[in-house]
Amino acid sequence: MPQIVVLPGDGIGPEVTRAAIEVLQKVSSDLEFSEYAFGGAGFEKYGDPFAPEVEAAVLGADAVLLGAIGGPQFEGLPKPQRPEAGLLRLRKAMGVYANLRPVKVFPGLEHLSPLRPEKAAGVDILFVRELLGGLYFGQPRAWEGDMAYNTMRYTTPEVQRISKVAFEAARGRRNRVTSVDKANVLEVSELWRKTAQDLHDSSYPDVTLNHELVDSAAMLIVSDPSRYDVILTENLFGDILSDLSAVLPGSLGLLPSASLGDGAGLYEPIHGSAPDIAGKGIANPAAAILSAAMLLRHSLGRENEAARVESAVSLALKSHPTRDLGGTAGTQEFLDAVLEHLG
Ligand SMILES: NC(=O)c1ccc[n+]([C@@H]2O[C@H](COP(=O)([O-])OP(=O)(O)OC[C@H]3O[C@@H](n4cnc5c(N)ncnc54)[C@H](O)[C@@H]3O)[C@@H](O)[C@H]2O)c1
Repeated sequence: MPQIVVLPGDGIGPEVTRAAIEVLQKVSSDLEFSEYAFGGAGFEKYGDPFAPEVEAAVLGADAVLLGAIGGPQFEGLPKPQRPEAGLLRLRKAMGVYANLRPVKVFPGLEHLSPLRPEKAAGVDILFVRELLGGLYFGQPRAWEGDMAYNTMRYTTPEVQRISKVAFEAARGRRNRVTSVDKANVLEVSELWRKTAQDLHDSSYPDVTLNHELVDSAAMLIVSDPSRYDVILTENLFGDILSDLSAVLPGSLGLLPSASLGDGAGLYEPIHGSAPDIAGKGIANPAAAILSAAMLLRHSLGRENEAARVESAVSLALKSHPTRDLGGTAGTQEFLDAVLEHLG
């Protein structure tokens, strides 16, 4: 029986993960769930946002489903006890190096996008961002007097393993990868571009690969986003471009994510704990449910179930839009609609 560890977290986290669990139970009756306090809730229960007991459970799981963490009540805590510190430790403990963020404008919801509806229509991008390397982790790094520096560093094997994730993902989609770098300026990007191209030529010649410079890609994501299928990029560029793209669908409540490594995967909506609407029963659970669909696909290899969940969510977004989408449905009504569309 696949073991799923659920970390509901804080704010709307417990509300949206509850909905995602119900959907998982509906499409796969053999899953076993165990829940642990994590983030701010973890600090309140264990005095530690990511307690050793939780770490042991996570490391023994087949997949981890996370809600969201944080809230104003935790902002005064010392840094290591804050919810975000727990999240960084969780990702590190799981060794997840590939962050997958689909950005899709759902049919019928084009009017929510800040882009003109005809530009927003058909947007369906999958970001594959390297998560454990680059400028955020490179050594040496320091702030010394009136000078500070960071190091952007990648090795060929690091670029190969993330490129492989992108090429494999493209094969299940529209078969196109755009690798984004800054190869006209940075040596790291030259290595990145050559490594992605070599892997493509030797193992994925059936996938179309092109390379774009990050500045040009940033403009094209806004001016012509439907040209993209899979975007492969390093940590810093991926952080910025995936957040830039997250505004395209018109609500944070629509965006799931997966973080993959060599062991269990971590699945979470990209939104935060939304303290302004927590406990009101109005959070949009679509991002959490779509994260559960990614869990079915990437950790359990259940593509049919994943696709069924995605199409049920797509139908529910039309039949029962939540408030962030200009509708009136609450969390439970939206969930009921998804369960009904699942049949
Ligand atoms: N990975 C994470 O868990 C994560 C990510 C971002 C922020 N945070 C934390 O969350 C807390 C709140 O941060 P924030 O307000 O900047 O960002 P947020 O994503 O929580 O909320 C931003 C806005 O979007 C709305 N929103 C978010 N998710 C929604 C949903 N599912 N349905 C309907 N509306 C939704 C909120 O009501 C709010 O108005 C902070 O403590 C922050 O550090 C956590």
